[in-house]
Amino acid sequence: MRLGFLNEQNPLERRVALVPEAVAKLTAKGFQIVLEREAGTGAYWPDEAYRQAGAEVLPTAQAVVEACEILLRLRMPTPEEIERYPSGRVLVGLLQAWQHPASLAALAEKQWSIFGLERLPRLTRAQSMDVLSSMAALAGYKAVLLAAYHFARVFPMLTTAAGTLAPARVLVIGAGVAGLQAIATARRLGAQVEAYDIRPAAKEQVESLGARFLPLTLDATAETAGGYARALTPEEQARQQEALAAYLARADIVITTAALPERPAPKIITRTMRQQMKPGAVIVDLAADTGGNCEETIPGQTQNLDGILLLAPLQLPATLPVHASQMLSRNFSEFLSLFCAKNSPPKLHLEDELLQKTCILWKGTKELVA
Ligand SMILES: NC(=O)c1ccc[n+]([C@@H]2O[C@H](COP(=O)([O-])OP(=O)(O)OC[C@H]3O[C@@H](n4cnc5c(N)ncnc54)[C@H](O)[C@@H]3O)[C@@H](O)[C@H]2O)c1
Repeated sequence: MRLGFLNEQNPLERRVALVPEAVAKLTAKGFQIVLEREAGTGAYWPDEAYRQAGAEVLPTAQAVVEACEILLRLRMPTPEEIERYPSGRVLVGLLQAWQHPASLAALAEKQWSIFGLERLPRLTRAQSMDVLSSMAALAGYKAVLLAAYHFARVFPMLTTAAGTLAPARVLVIGAGVAGLQAIATARRLGAQVEAYDIRPAAKEQVESLGARFLPLTLDATAETAGGYARALTPEEQARQQEALAAYLARADIVITTAALPERPAPKIITRTMRQQMKPGAVIVDLAADTGGNCEETIPGQTQNLDGILLLAPLQLPATLPVHASQMLSRNFSEFLSLFCAKNSPPKLHLEDELLQKTCILWKGTKELVA
């Protein structure tokens, strides 16, 4: 089975789907691998390293798509790209299909099968394939570094001959994978950290990292059976905003990471709440890729709003292309292993729960036929 990946055509993208080490392992499992020229150069892996690992380097993206049966992508291809694609192939990737209905329709028209790894259930068996966790951990780390870079003070308490400097107060909203990594990073830099999540299960994890969990509770459980948060009702949202405002007003740095599966991010910080914050405070809205947690967020832009800096970076993990590619590569390799049975060549099938749960289209249709 031929597996292909491309030089992702996006100005923000420097990651690559497979690193040479993974190419060698997948080749040993029976896959033949083709890649577009310079697919790995954004993450410092030259074409020669891929050739030595057993892959074939092709001159164009089109040549790769035509040569492979399974295409790995780090984002959903555009309808214009899909128009040039041959029919009846398989797409595996970090696709967020719900944000790209036109691409989905174009792929259906071409009878493609699609597996979106963002749909993997949170099972122990799926952890090594969990692209969302891998990328969220990197985003949480980088968000704190961005905030520290833009902050006009230091993070740790410093006692010097010129006086004592107070530590920064960091507030993390949403204590999932990204939030917990942000907490750990801010703590390592010496900040005082507070965190909040609507899932009560997050309290213990926040406290184990040495941060304080804010005592804001909801009447009904906010956790779904899949371990994700549910959307709040308008009344719950209003109560949450009212309770959070006082904590925001005293924070120096706010990192927001709240997300809902396959839906736009919940709006948590209103303009009024931001107006009550201290001048010099920095907000990093990590949910910008799905619209943002702040009412005033403009995805991809940094705004100075009355002295409060609001950063809304897109695709933050792509700014750490080496580690991001290593992690994605491991995630993809583990997922592709689902197509491999012992002692036989890789075969496309739907006989595994993880394949069924991630399958968005099967041979062009939404009705799954195993
Ligand atoms: N067992 C596994 O394989 C596995 C793998 C990864 C994650 N998980 C768990 O799944 C859970 C979700 O993780 P995630 O980081 O992918 O979540 P996510 O990216 O979907 O959301 C980030 C966080 O935002 C929170 N949130 C959503 N709406 C909110 C709101 N209105 N106000 C405040 N917070 C809000 C969520 O509860 C979550 O903790 C976590 O408990 C995580 O530890 C389990």
